[in-house]
Amino acid sequence: MTNDKRLIWFKGDIIPVNEAKINVLSPTSQFGANVFEGLRAYWNEADKELYVFKLEEHINRLLKSIKMMRFESQYDAVFLKNSVIEIVKANKYQEDITIRQTIFLDGFGSWASASPTDMFIAPIAKGRQYPPDKIGIECCVSSWARINDKSMSPKIKMGANYMNSRMGQMEAMRNGYDSTIFLNDQGKVSEGPGSCIFIVRDGQLITPPITASILESITRTTILVIARNDLGLDVVERDVDRTELYIADEIFFCGTAVEIVPVVGVDKLVVGDAKKGMITSRIEDLYFDIVRGLSDKHKCWLTPTYKV
Ligand SMILES: Cc1ncc(COP(=O)(O)O)c(C=O)c1O
Repeated sequence: MTNDKRLIWFKGDIIPVNEAKINVLSPTSQFGANVFEGLRAYWNEADKELYVFKLEEHINRLLKSIKMMRFESQYDAVFLKNSVIEIVKANKYQEDITIRQTIFLDGFGSWASASPTDMFIAPIAKGRQYPPDKIGIECCVSSWARINDKSMSPKIKMGANYMNSRMGQMEAMRNGYDSTIFLNDQGKVSEGPGSCIFIVRDGQLITPPITASILESITRTTILVIARNDLGLDVVERDVDRTELYIADEIFFCGTAVEIVPVVGVDKLVVGDAKKGMITSRIEDLYFDIVRGLSDKHKCWLTPTYKV
């Protein structure tokens, strides 16, 4: 389906995406005053079903972002969830998609307004971010610090936060890297511009804690659970020093959009064997079985869209 044929859920209606218009003077347009979720749904050919991964968790995080931003929103959890299913169904996709669900500050107010807010939900066809046969990405440590809870909380999934991501990502690309790793204001490893980070050292899987200036990532939690419960790995959440990136055996980014991406170089130092590591591979294989609905044990994390 071409982009302009797509249907979007916009302020309560289902309309062609080109017809969805936002007031240029609204606080969302002027100041990035919005909160959002990026979800994914995976097509399962045998089941003829499009499964949304961890829909409940995304809706819960969206409600928390609305609360922290003090937005007045008329939508409850059930409505937010049903609206996602409704617009996915309406587009009749039979392929993997990403779904952007955004609550935005509309009207003619300022950055300090609490209302009126409204919502759009846009499903967009999207395959794997990084093909499985790609070796991995080269990163630098950013010269920009990650935003923090004293100024702009990375826990709030708000549009404006991504301007910090932008500064880091653009700097990395200007300097010939694929992406960047942020340190927080304590100088500890935080996260990527749109992902959380895991490292492996001597067989132990390590990720920065949720107090390390990170988004409380749904993929990160998923990996912590499956690494411990399904793969029997030794897992720890703790602060990570910059130099641990240089001597890690494996590093990968994770997130709904990026999925699982091996990092094979940091600041021009080779990570491990300069290819996807064994632990990364095991996690990646199980993750994709789960999201695609091939693991019965984890089907409770999936919401079917066509057979509801
Ligand atoms: C800054 C940042 N960190 C982490 C993540 C990963 O979060 P999740 O796994 O919930 O998609 C994202 C995803 O968009 C992100 O933007």
